[in-house]
Amino acid sequence: MRTQSRTNMKAKSQQSGTKSQQSGTKLRKPRILLAASGSVVAIQLFKFCHRLCEWAEVRAVATKRAMHFIDRALIPSEVALYTDDEQWKEWNKLGDKVCHIELRQWADAMVIVPLSANTLGKIAMGLCDNLLTCLVRGWDYNKKPLFVAPSMSRLMWSNPFTACHIDSITKLGIKVIMPDSDSFMVADPWNIMNELSRTLNTQVRLIDG
Ligand SMILES: Cc1cc2nc3c(=O)[nH]c(=O)nc-3n(C[C@H](O)[C@H](O)[C@H](O)COP(=O)(O)O)c2cc1C
Repeated sequence: MRTQSRTNMKAKSQQSGTKSQQSGTKLRKPRILLAASGSVVAIQLFKFCHRLCEWAEVRAVATKRAMHFIDRALIPSEVALYTDDEQWKEWNKLGDKVCHIELRQWADAMVIVPLSANTLGKIAMGLCDNLLTCLVRGWDYNKKPLFVAPSMSRLMWSNPFTACHIDSITKLGIKVIMPDSDSFMVADPWNIMNELSRTLNTQVRLIDG
């Protein structure tokens, strides 16, 4: 199953490449912002990076709490990892680049995996007190997809706030990849990656050719 989906992605990519040569239009890989918040599943961020790098250009974003679970050394070298520090270090005076705006403009799509109960609540309430939530608050839902994969304990998941927050973010246009495990509530990482590849083409046309 896993080998098959990987093969499908490669095959799709090769098909797109052929189309590109036939039409003479320049194609590029999709640009995906991969964001992690403070669930223990953030330990797997490096695996998600590797998987997505097979068919996309990837930049990563992590909350302060997510960084507690992430080993920077395991993140592939081609993936830049942005935290709140980058957001504030890069801006010193008017005219300087604003990290969350630059990243939002760069990306074709964003996926938050894992999405903690805390960040889910903040997004649902419109709060934006860190790099990840600033990106989400300023996202253009009409043009670019945003996926989230919530990840929390069973009791956190069954708390009434969760359904209420999921409902609010769905209305915003966020695509929720629902948990599929009974004990610890998180979608199978492979399902998350497959959902992404189904929705996004493996290559995106460059407007200017
Ligand atoms: C070891 C540990 C594991 C945690 N795992 C989860 C989790 O899987 N899901 C979750 O929603 N919160 C989890 N939390 C709680 C969050 O880390 C906490 O709510 C934090 O404030 C989230 O911050 P963030 O949403 O800004 O990343 C965990 C906390 C600890 C100490």
